[in-house]
Amino acid sequence: TAAPPPRHPAAMVLARLLPFLSLLLLLEVPEVARASPPGALPEVAAACKAGVLCPRVPVKNPDPQPVNISLYYESLCGGCRGFLVRELFPTWLMVMEIINVTLVPYGNAQEQNVSGKWEFTCQHGERECFLNKVEACLLDKLEKTIAFLTIVCMEEMDDMEKNLKPPQCLQIYAPEVSSDTITECATGDRGTQLMHANAQLTDALQPPHQYVPWVVVNGKPMGQQDELLSLVCHLYQGEKPDVCQIGARSQREVCLQ
Ligand SMILES: *[C@@H]1O[C@H](CO)[C@@H](O)[C@H](O)[C@H]1NC(C)=O
Ligand SMILES: *[C@@H]1O[C@H](CO)[C@@H](O)[C@H](O)[C@H]1NC(C)=O
Ligand SMILES: *[C@@H]1O[C@H](CO)[C@@H](O)[C@H](O)[C@H]1NC(C)=O
Repeated sequence: TAAPPPRHPAAMVLARLLPFLSLLLLLEVPEVARASPPGALPEVAAACKAGVLCPRVPVKNPDPQPVNISLYYESLCGGCRGFLVRELFPTWLMVMEIINVTLVPYGNAQEQNVSGKWEFTCQHGERECFLNKVEACLLDKLEKTIAFLTIVCMEEMDDMEKNLKPPQCLQIYAPEVSSDTITECATGDRGTQLMHANAQLTDALQPPHQYVPWVVVNGKPMGQQDELLSLVCHLYQGEKPDVCQIGARSQREVCLQ
């Protein structure tokens, strides 16, 4: 008989992350990163050379602020899904302790006040409007990290509605929340309210977004040629994580307005 699946949400989160973590371990770590533990105090280094057993004592920059990353996107845009799953999520896995991620599902949608009620028109149709609201509701109702993982999980799947329902994404990360709660939010007044708030955030962008995914890092739009991990490593004012030694480049797809 097969072993029962792990019950604890943290264990399940870890189970999902493991393939990514083992992938990271396969990356070659440059010689410099291994040779010098960042921030070791000179006295400590001297003591280490003398053969004394020494712990690593990191020098902490007082209160370095995390790098703010806001993703303005829409749920069915291929480029948005690619960015979320292949760039933002791996970056988060590597340097989650130094970034502050904000997701704003709305993107190239439009809103209209129809006799006192907000109505939305989405680039990829009604289904996208519904899924944008589903994701806004997940962000509203779940703890931030759990909401992020659930959304990444859904955006990876071909059939996102099916994957909101048990036994998929929501069930994996937030088994205590029923998919009905989220669907009710998405189809009700709360969903409309959240989407209107996202519309206002998106419409207030300075400079305005030209396409999605539109990524704002510490208040500035990220260029199409920029690579997120390198940018975060460059902008972070505190002691840089070891992974910042590894460079990478990638081409990004976008959805024009
Ligand atoms: C993270 O971003 C949110 C806005 O999306 C902001 O309210 C919050 O203050 C930020 N946290 C830090 C530590 O910068
Ligand atoms: C929306 O339209 C209604 C009437 O159609 C109006 O009373 C209300 O002030 C409008 N709201 C906004 C925010 O424009
Ligand atoms: C991140 O955003 C918060 C809230 O807007 C702001 O207080 C903080 O200074 C920002 N951090 C950086 C590094 O820009």
